[in-house]
Amino acid sequence: MIKGDTRVHSLYGSPVAHSLSPVIFNTIFEKLSLNRAYMAFEVSKDKLKNAVEAARTLGFDGFNVTMPHKTSIIEMLDRLNDGTEIIGSVNTVARTKRGLVGYNTDGEGAVRALRSYGFEPSNKRIVVLGAGGAAQALVHRFSRDNDEIKILNRTLGKARNLADNATGPGGISYGKLGKNSLESCLHDTDLLVNATPIQTSTLVSQLKIPIRRVKDVDWVFDLAYDKPAEPVPARLGMISPLEMLVNQAALSYEIWLNKTAPFALMRSSLVDYLGEDWK
Ligand SMILES: NC(=O)c1ccc[n+]([C@@H]2O[C@H](COP(=O)([O-])OP(=O)(O)OC[C@H]3O[C@@H](n4cnc5c(N)ncnc54)[C@H](OP(=O)(O)O)[C@@H]3O)[C@@H](O)[C@H]2O)c1
Repeated sequence: MIKGDTRVHSLYGSPVAHSLSPVIFNTIFEKLSLNRAYMAFEVSKDKLKNAVEAARTLGFDGFNVTMPHKTSIIEMLDRLNDGTEIIGSVNTVARTKRGLVGYNTDGEGAVRALRSYGFEPSNKRIVVLGAGGAAQALVHRFSRDNDEIKILNRTLGKARNLADNATGPGGISYGKLGKNSLESCLHDTDLLVNATPIQTSTLVSQLKIPIRRVKDVDWVFDLAYDKPAEPVPARLGMISPLEMLVNQAALSYEIWLNKTAPFALMRSSLVDYLGEDWK
């Protein structure tokens, strides 16, 4: 029950109505009898600063940010956790004695999801579509593990910046997302990560690439989950964005509560809500 002293967590983004984070967090808060609540707020780009000030004023006990705020929020925070500065995007904010501190749990959440499918992202050939907040986190994480990464983005300059800023030992190339650039790399890709809001099946069709070309890729990992996953014929299959969602949420929980997250309970809460497992 929400009471006078309930501690509040939130999500800021646009759009957020589809978000499953409130389901995950509120279910476990209730199951574990934690006096906490999690709310999603639709916040446009020009209102983010006000929303961050509101979190400070109202004493929110940590919050998440999603599209399109992961980069722009940085200048509104007091500090970044070690390693987050280089990533250049934040998805989790903790309230501490030293102010609001930004973290990014997307990269580690994605790697944990990949490992749960038996994919070890080390020394692999990975194509990343998009160069926004989520792509930034994943590219930096993969680069640490010596992966060979190709970034393809609609806006070339953002792909270039991301490639230039990655510091890991992995090789990085970039290009503008288009029919030729994507089609030409499909034949020797271990993992295609789609960090745009458009599902791979739609993107491939918009670029007029025959969908059968995707069968040369081992795994396809669409991060967006606002619509039911549209299957593509990847050789080994598709990684569910919901597996990443639960993993990055568990990492946020650990940052906010400073204790091990009840991962199995978080995952089963979402499975129960959806009525089926995604694996
Ligand atoms: N499953 C999870 O746990 C999880 C976690 C994080 C994010 N996500 C999802 O991942 C997606 C990206 O999130 P984000 O925070 O990185 O967003 P973002 O910072 O706004 O970046 C979006 C990226 O997608 C590209 N893009 C947007 N519309 C496009 C289109 N019509 N065609 C081609 N490219 C397009 C943008 O290209 P430009 O640079 O040209 O604008 C940009 O590179 C969202 O759907 C988000 O919900 C899921």
